[in-house]
Amino acid sequence: MSIQEEKIRQLVERRTSARLGGGQSRIDAQHKKNKLTARERLSLLLDEGSFEEYDAFVQHRCTNFGMDSQHFDGDGVVTGQGTIDGRLVYVFAQDFTVSGGSLSKTMAEKICKVMDMAVRAGAPIIGLNDSGGARIQEGIDALAGYGEIFERNILASGVVPQISGIFGPCAGGAVYSPALTDFTLMVRDTSYMFLTGPSVVKSVTGEQVTQEELGGASVHARKSGVAHFAAADEREGIDTIKKLLSFIPQNNLSEAPQVPTLDPVSRTDDLLNSIIPDNPNKPYDMYGVITSIVDDGVFFEVHKEFANNIIVGFAHMNGRSVGIVANQPKLLAGVLDINASRKAARFVRFCDAFNIPLVTLVDVPGFLCGTQQEYGAIITNGAKLLYAYGEATVPKVTVTLRKSYGGAHIVMSCKQLRGDVNYAWPTANIAVMGAEGAVEVLYGKELKAETDPGKKAALAEEKKNEYNELFCNPYQAAQKGYIEDVIEPRNTRFRICRALESLAGKRQELPAKKHDNLPL
Ligand code: HXC
Repeated sequence: MSIQEEKIRQLVERRTSARLGGGQSRIDAQHKKNKLTARERLSLLLDEGSFEEYDAFVQHRCTNFGMDSQHFDGDGVVTGQGTIDGRLVYVFAQDFTVSGGSLSKTMAEKICKVMDMAVRAGAPIIGLNDSGGARIQEGIDALAGYGEIFERNILASGVVPQISGIFGPCAGGAVYSPALTDFTLMVRDTSYMFLTGPSVVKSVTGEQVTQEELGGASVHARKSGVAHFAAADEREGIDTIKKLLSFIPQNNLSEAPQVPTLDPVSRTDDLLNSIIPDNPNKPYDMYGVITSIVDDGVFFEVHKEFANNIIVGFAHMNGRSVGIVANQPKLLAGVLDINASRKAARFVRFCDAFNIPLVTLVDVPGFLCGTQQEYGAIITNGAKLLYAYGEATVPKVTVTLRKSYGGAHIVMSCKQLRGDVNYAWPTANIAVMGAEGAVEVLYGKELKAETDPGKKAALAEEKKNEYNELFCNPYQAAQKGYIEDVIEPRNTRFRICRALESLAGKRQELPAKKHDNLPL
């Protein structure tokens, strides 16, 4: 064997050993926990043969606590670039088999390197997290490493899409990197996120709680909204990330990929002409409207389990990616509350940052009232959604289906928030409030003074009819040019598609400023 051949043999041997991470027994332990390894995850995520690994031979530089005798090539993270459906992405996958995936300074350097490369190349960053947090032996160096990552998350925000998959533990300050990214996906039963674990919680507050109850996928997908997606297992999680990517562009200067469809733009749907119940207090399912108007009925929902009184997600219309925001009359009558406002605001801002037009479907009775909401700052949280819509410069097409009352009418992408094309169905009620509330305010004294119950009911009915006649229709708004047109429901798909087509070249600027001061 020549010297060169021997050196190549050594390289192959070292590479093979690096691919084993912390070794076969730790890989087996990972599998026993129903978890894949970092490399297995990447091979599911990326197109076959596309992975270009970087820094496979990097080792930590820590000498504390006997660490100088424990070295693994690549340390606790696998990093590099690859493609998903032919599109370039940069990736890092924490390797739990090496020191529990705990973050060393060198691991942070590896992660920062691919983040910098992603921003330079204008490609999404996907991080797969499975880590015991800061590497305890490295002390402040590990914390500095987190700081470097967080700063890059912040600088990359709104420049390239950032997606976090949580495939194992993600605890302590480590949770803040996913929290700074655009989307977080968790895997049920095998992943958890919390600032302080159950034992610390017990010693500080006395509260007894399991890891799952404190920060499992269900908790964050349903209660806190920290997770945008909860997958049944790792494979479903990887598929969800790939699907999400298919709706979003490479960066803030490019467009999302177009997906040709055989679904005709001119397709009408007679069922929409009978979807609104006669009784204004009776619900109907907004999902029926969404799937009726989008290409091939395919809707990719974000935050599916959180704040279900509003629906957000991606779809295609005439092959173009759109962000859908829709009130859901089936839950809490589609009212806007703190969580619904937060959820929709974040989604609207993502779409605006990444050139994805917004389609808003409105049926909203107002903001949720009461002490719980007021104490929780519904004012500030509602303002987030208002701000997000008002600031957004992407094409905005809005259709009011039924109720659109008061402040909630303004918030839900009204004309005055620089809505581009606003339509209403003939069943739309665009008013300060519903008839019942209005009659109570305007004729409360007269109704109270009337002692005969029959006459009282008749008076209330008469005034309600009067109010409905005057305000509870779309024509007041149409007469004043606050909506472009009253449209037949069955035509909603092609009216929206046509509007989006005409807005494809939309240009709109914001005043020059350092940055905004949205109501956080
Ligand atoms: C160094 C760590 C480690 C860490 C785990 N390991 N976490 N090594 N620093 N943070 C090592 C273990 O010693 C073990 O090494 C191997 O990884 C696997 O860990 P196990 O405990 O055997 O695995 P498991 O039973 O599955 O438990 C996983 C775990 C637990 C729940 C994550 O390891 C754990 O609680 N780790 C500490 C978590 C933590 O408190 N981290 C600091 C959070 S604060 P061997 O060699 O025995 O296999 C933080 C601050 C960030 O991160 C601030 C950012 C601003």
